[in-house]
Amino acid sequence: MENQDSTPRWLSITGKPLPRLDHPNGMPGASYGVVHRAQDHKNNKVVALKQVRIFDSDRGNGIPITALREISILKSLRHNNVVNVLDVAVGTELDDVYMVMEYAEQDLANLLDHARVKYSESEVKCLMKQLLEGLEYLHKHDIIHRDIKMSNLLLTAKGVLKIADFGMAREYSARPLTPGVVTVWYRAPELLLSATRYTSAVDIWSAGCIMGELITQLPLLPGETELEQFALIVKLLGSPSDKIWPKMRLLPGIYDRGRIAPDDVSVGGARGRYVPPPVGAQRENMLERRLVGQTKETIRVINEMLTFDPERRITASDALRERYFTREMPPPQRPELIQTFPEIRNESDIGARKGAEGAGGKRKGKEQGGGYVFDFGDDFGVRKKHRQLERRD
Ligand SMILES: Nc1ncnc2c1ncn2[C@@H]1O[C@H](COP(=O)(O)OP(=O)(O)O)[C@@H](O)[C@H]1O
Ligand SMILES: [Mg+2]
Repeated sequence: MENQDSTPRWLSITGKPLPRLDHPNGMPGASYGVVHRAQDHKNNKVVALKQVRIFDSDRGNGIPITALREISILKSLRHNNVVNVLDVAVGTELDDVYMVMEYAEQDLANLLDHARVKYSESEVKCLMKQLLEGLEYLHKHDIIHRDIKMSNLLLTAKGVLKIADFGMAREYSARPLTPGVVTVWYRAPELLLSATRYTSAVDIWSAGCIMGELITQLPLLPGETELEQFALIVKLLGSPSDKIWPKMRLLPGIYDRGRIAPDDVSVGGARGRYVPPPVGAQRENMLERRLVGQTKETIRVINEMLTFDPERRITASDALRERYFTREMPPPQRPELIQTFPEIRNESDIGARKGAEGAGGKRKGKEQGGGYVFDFGDDFGVRKKHRQLERRD
């Protein structure tokens, strides 16, 4: 990593004096895509710096509105399970705009991929409880996250889960929103059917998928296309009907870019057309069989989160009141006792082992076709595909 300017003068746009930060490119720190680890020289506190992406088209127009939205949403929120933005740092170049965040040692995608962590029943409960408490808070404040997935869930060394990456988040509004949100594996059926009026229930669907994945260590619904995704949902949960989802037939359908016909409509500049969802006539819900050995309460909570009809889908607050969290044994593990692998991602910075190919850089480097240093198990092929898809979307 080349050493650029090692002593930039950072300005805080909130006007507060900003701790002197190491330049993210000039330190033996790790970088995760656009997120860098930096240290505050004064108190040695480690912070995360997320570079605000400025696309060429935005150059000359100041900080893009999407970035301002992410920053302002995060600045307005404060909850233990939502990543805390401490400040915004601006360097000398327009590209040098960073969100300064509290640092979390891990994200769940990394833990599942690299550490191949297998969480116990009480640990899954603990993680899900924290995720739902974070979502409950967001939804109470009318924020829909719209991109809940493993790599956007951070875990601190003390086992605290933090919802991160508010790049897709929006304030709830009665106005139409784009349905093309949420990585396809975690995407709610109403979004797959191109609904433009949707609610925070889309995040709960994603949470249901997360729960299944935490239990089995494999993605619950790994579809490659929207059409396949819907088919996988039906295969797992049974066919939706007018009875269980009365408003389904009012939705446009799955937007299929794969087929192009003369009557195609153009959505977001891409041509394709709406096709009816492959609903089939499967009566059975296979969730219990997929999650063999899980308790009735576990299956119940996942089913409540993976309810087709968004109006009937459980809310975060109600989910937290389920017996699964409140009474069923074992109780949720205490966060500080949850297994964490604080250094896996950051192996390269420990003692600044020069030349050693750190997991962190490499794993994220994977997106650009970088190498791997870990000994992956048999399921890695699936995992790798999983993450690539997740990222591609
Ligand atoms: N506060 C943080 N502390 C530590 N790592 C972080 C933090 N925020 C993000 N990361 C890491 O950087 C990755 C990308 O950050 P994210 O905010 O999700 O940006 P993107 O929009 O590129 O997905 C995350 O998956 C996580 O591994
Ligand atoms: Mg992300």
